[in-house]
Amino acid sequence: MNKFALDKKSARLIVLQRIELLQSFQKKLRKLFGRYIFSNFFLKFFVNTNLIGENYFDIMKKEYETIANEVNFSNKKYLSIGGGLGGLELIINMETKNNFFYFIEKNYVSKKVKYGWDDKNLEAYNNLQLVEKFLIKNGMDINKFKIYDFDTNNFPNEKFDFIISLYSLDYHYDFNIYLEYLKKISNDQTKIIFDTIRGDYFKNVFKNVKIIQSVDNTVHKSKRIICSEFI
Ligand SMILES: C[S@@+](CC[C@H](N)C(=O)[O-])C[C@H]1O[C@@H](n2cnc3c(N)ncnc32)[C@H](O)[C@@H]1O
Repeated sequence: MNKFALDKKSARLIVLQRIELLQSFQKKLRKLFGRYIFSNFFLKFFVNTNLIGENYFDIMKKEYETIANEVNFSNKKYLSIGGGLGGLELIINMETKNNFFYFIEKNYVSKKVKYGWDDKNLEAYNNLQLVEKFLIKNGMDINKFKIYDFDTNNFPNEKFDFIISLYSLDYHYDFNIYLEYLKKISNDQTKIIFDTIRGDYFKNVFKNVKIIQSVDNTVHKSKRIICSEFI
């Protein structure tokens, strides 16, 4: 398999979550007409589902590789925070064995879709029904995952082996929103992997912090870090 199967609505969400998937003419339209008209009108029509299925797969495969070099993925319980449509988790599911996935995400698409730091954490680009559909369509067994809506405050109460958040936690909104919850659901072996715009800050939060990637060409500069053991 070298691409994800998806429908038009999911493709539209993926483009909002992964803005690098926009083609150059789409970027021009967005600049010309503004984010609101672009996301709510143009994106409904000008979206190449096939191409996005291929490119999203490639991106997620590369993301997987940045992490798989560092950790052993099989037989683990995962929590994905802001995982979008779940492409990374699908790749983990394809490449490894005996895993269970929990997702915490938001269940709406914000009107203007702004990127960058969001103090109030109101920005979201997802639809949880479509996430479920997408995961099943791409081979994840319905008994291997559970999806939680961030805004219901009903979160899984389990200890996790991995907590993963790419370009979401501490990239768009403050880590501290999740701090107490993350302490509750982790133990000393739990690895928390996320992209942050303030890598050094976490040296005072965790005993172990390892930078595995530095990215300079996205909305803002960020570091991907693997952390364990809260101080
Ligand atoms: C830039 S996208 C990244 C999606 C995915 N991780 C990826 O790498 O493609 C950020 C995601 O965070 C989600 N999000 C925003 N606030 C959140 C929160 N408090 N908890 C969980 N997810 C959140 C958004 O809905 C969106 O899908």
